[in-house]
Amino acid sequence: MNFSLYRPRRQLLTGQVCRPKVQRSRILSQQIKCQQRFRTSPSRPALSVPLRKSQKSMKGRAFSTAAIARSEPLRPSTTSADMSPRILIFGTGSIGAVYAYIFCRAVSPENVFTVCRSNYEVASSQGFTINSSLFGQNLNVRPQIVRTVDEAVSRSGGKPFDYVVVTAKAIPSTPSIPDQIAPAVSSNTTIAVIQNGIAVEDIYVSKFPNNPLLSCVVYLPATQTSPGTISHGEVERLHIGTYPAKAPEAHTSRAESFASLLGSGGGTAHVHEDVQSERWSKLLVNASWNPICALSRSRDVQFMHSSSEATDVVRQIMLEIASVAQAAGYPVISESKVDHQLGRAKARSLPGVQPSMLADALAGRNMEVDAIVGNTLRIAEEKGVKTPLLKAIYALAKALDTSFTKARDGHSVSGARGDRLR
Ligand SMILES: NC(=O)c1ccc[n+]([C@@H]2O[C@H](COP(=O)([O-])OP(=O)(O)OC[C@H]3O[C@@H](n4cnc5c(N)ncnc54)[C@H](OP(=O)(O)O)[C@@H]3O)[C@@H](O)[C@H]2O)c1
Repeated sequence: MNFSLYRPRRQLLTGQVCRPKVQRSRILSQQIKCQQRFRTSPSRPALSVPLRKSQKSMKGRAFSTAAIARSEPLRPSTTSADMSPRILIFGTGSIGAVYAYIFCRAVSPENVFTVCRSNYEVASSQGFTINSSLFGQNLNVRPQIVRTVDEAVSRSGGKPFDYVVVTAKAIPSTPSIPDQIAPAVSSNTTIAVIQNGIAVEDIYVSKFPNNPLLSCVVYLPATQTSPGTISHGEVERLHIGTYPAKAPEAHTSRAESFASLLGSGGGTAHVHEDVQSERWSKLLVNASWNPICALSRSRDVQFMHSSSEATDVVRQIMLEIASVAQAAGYPVISESKVDHQLGRAKARSLPGVQPSMLADALAGRNMEVDAIVGNTLRIAEEKGVKTPLLKAIYALAKALDTSFTKARDGHSVSGARGDRLR
């Protein structure tokens, strides 16, 4: 479950959605278009379920309402499968399955392909089951389930994909994710990267320099509780922008089309002129709490209670991240933002929340160390910003991550008795 989502609702819904660089008029016009589409589409009943408190507070800001999603049984869109966009989701775990649900509401499930790995067997026989506080319980979604991108390409009969949406974790792999998705990427395909971290888009730019590339920052607390079954909280929000921010108009319009597509499936999407500001904002929390909690095997509040030094260490690390963000051109990531984020954790009661790296560490899974911490450190070095604490937690988290890889490969870390440092 993603840690940064646990914030007081008022801040989440009103304080963090629109930043100065967001084109409010564009967002609003898209919201209106989507809401009109919902209201006029013959395939969708009028909004009949009263909005809950949390949903009321999102009215006018979000593309869509979850009440619409909750009130309707899942069924294929009536749009012709040939006419509607074709979408490939790569890495269909917690986030990918929720977006598969949203896309299957926007277009025919025939047009939504999901590349699965450990959950392939269950997903291909039963589809995905989504238990969501926002969209509803026990929702079954049945996109086209495939094991590989090649299989998706061959099953789609040569028709190109309009969108390839990457929702695998940003963990280095061989072959790389760009290499793996390449068979589905034609000259007109938009690639949307929905991953935490910073500079995670670079490998896609290198491989597909001319394709529209959308960088997406997601707020969506979700966990795959068993293969194919996803538990989702009550927040779903995607911040979208081209990568790089200055992109051809054709790429910018893809960002808008993608947001519109999500909105028509009941999702919430905001288009930004420069979405990197959102990335840094999320990174401030992710690059600090994630490695700290994984290394200490503690939830955030547990860590703060563990010694009189603990809270100040978190603050100093956050300040280092803020300095890097500022050097990278994002002064909005300020000291007051650091104190605001720290205040959110301080306001929580024991034991606090579990960042995804802690969950991965406890399960002995690889963590997004390079995407979240290593890339921040690399940018700090490029900009000449001193980040000694960040460097230390990176080295430690990287070693922990490497130990998971070694353990999986059958290497023991315990060693013989005589090897011990005394
Ligand atoms: N979950 C949240 O609450 C949350 C919230 C905000 C942001 N995020 C971010 O969203 C991204 C996705 O997170 P997640 O929680 O959805 O991760 P996840 O549950 O681990 O899902 C990732 C999926 O990708 C699959 N995958 C990875 N490499 C693959 C490959 N080569 N071929 C086929 N499938 C592959 C994994 O399969 P296996 O099961 O076989 O490994 C897994 O099913 C991450 O960057 C995360 O930090 C997550």
